[in-house]
Amino acid sequence: MHKVGFIGCGGIAHAHARALSSIGERVEMVAFCDIEKERARWFSQNYTAGKAKFFSDYREMYDKVDLDIVYICLPPFAHKDEVDIAAEKGIHIFIEKPIALDMETANRMVEVVEKNKVKSQVGFMFRFGDAVEEVKGMLCNYGPVGLMMGRYMCNSLHSPWWRDKSKSGGQIVEQIIHIFDLIRFFMGEPKLVFTQMNNIFHKDIPDYTVEDVSGTVILFKDGGIATVSATNGAIPGKWIAQLDLIAKGLTANFIDANHANVYLTLNPWEKKVEISSGKDIYLAETLDLLDAIEQDRPTKVPMIEGARSLQLVLTAARSGEEGKPVEM
Ligand SMILES: NC(=O)c1ccc[n+]([C@@H]2O[C@H](COP(=O)([O-])OP(=O)(O)OC[C@H]3O[C@@H](n4cnc5c(N)ncnc54)[C@H](O)[C@@H]3O)[C@@H](O)[C@H]2O)c1
Repeated sequence: MHKVGFIGCGGIAHAHARALSSIGERVEMVAFCDIEKERARWFSQNYTAGKAKFFSDYREMYDKVDLDIVYICLPPFAHKDEVDIAAEKGIHIFIEKPIALDMETANRMVEVVEKNKVKSQVGFMFRFGDAVEEVKGMLCNYGPVGLMMGRYMCNSLHSPWWRDKSKSGGQIVEQIIHIFDLIRFFMGEPKLVFTQMNNIFHKDIPDYTVEDVSGTVILFKDGGIATVSATNGAIPGKWIAQLDLIAKGLTANFIDANHANVYLTLNPWEKKVEISSGKDIYLAETLDLLDAIEQDRPTKVPMIEGARSLQLVLTAARSGEEGKPVEM
């Protein structure tokens, strides 16, 4: 039985606590920590009938509770040494994206998990979608990928820390990182990024300092190109993340991570494969972490992937601020 603790008991922590609750005897949630202690207490009450301990200081939690895995669900600005302490104690780590707001912290996280040989999983759950996994598998027989086009559209004020660029890093860094990560997953490492971004729709909101429209072009070493368009000014209540992928012999239109229409294009006639699945991608990323620990094999999205995708979005944000292309 894996003993699990949480640092940060906010919105996304619910998704992970629900997934862990559905697994049964393989895991036990034994501790929750949030600087707002009442939230930690609420998680203990609602997910473990009050059995789990609750704390407002993660150092105290690490000192007092014996953990096998920690789920780090902190806002981007709040990362300090919680990964270092876990890794040094041999505690495996699940961490939400973006893993930090600067590369010094992110690189340190990578070093410490590798040095202490703990498993790490970064919360890029779209990688676990059945459509994403199947198309990735199909690309063994097709390719290269020449073009990807990503779109992300929502319309929400989000939380106060989210709309403060110094705390979230901005929409690209905090949110669109999912799309940038999928592009890296399919196309490899980029060499040049050019972003334009603006605040068009939220000028009247005083504490809103993040961009709400952006367009990015990414150039890859082999000549492939990707584009990413994003906004926080589209349809209220809808969160739309879509991707198209064009490879030699295969075109995939992803409706979401579990649904895609795939066209095999080497023939002069149309051959279409429809992928449709109800896979729980939050549960899938947790099950992969548990399997990796039990089988002593790498997870599908280790900390280094979190650092590389962070580097890409930080470069895009820098390009957007400077108004010129930036080499990776
Ligand atoms: N993968 C996804 O689909 C997804 C979705 C939403 C959020 N996220 C990511 O998860 C992270 C958290 O987002 P959220 O929406 O849950 O935020 P949130 O604001 O709802 O929750 C964050 C919690 O962390 C607590 N906290 C802050 N500093 C702390 C500290 N030092 N010690 C302990 N607790 C502390 C806050 O009090 C709050 O309860 C962000 O990085 C976000 O990008 C990922």
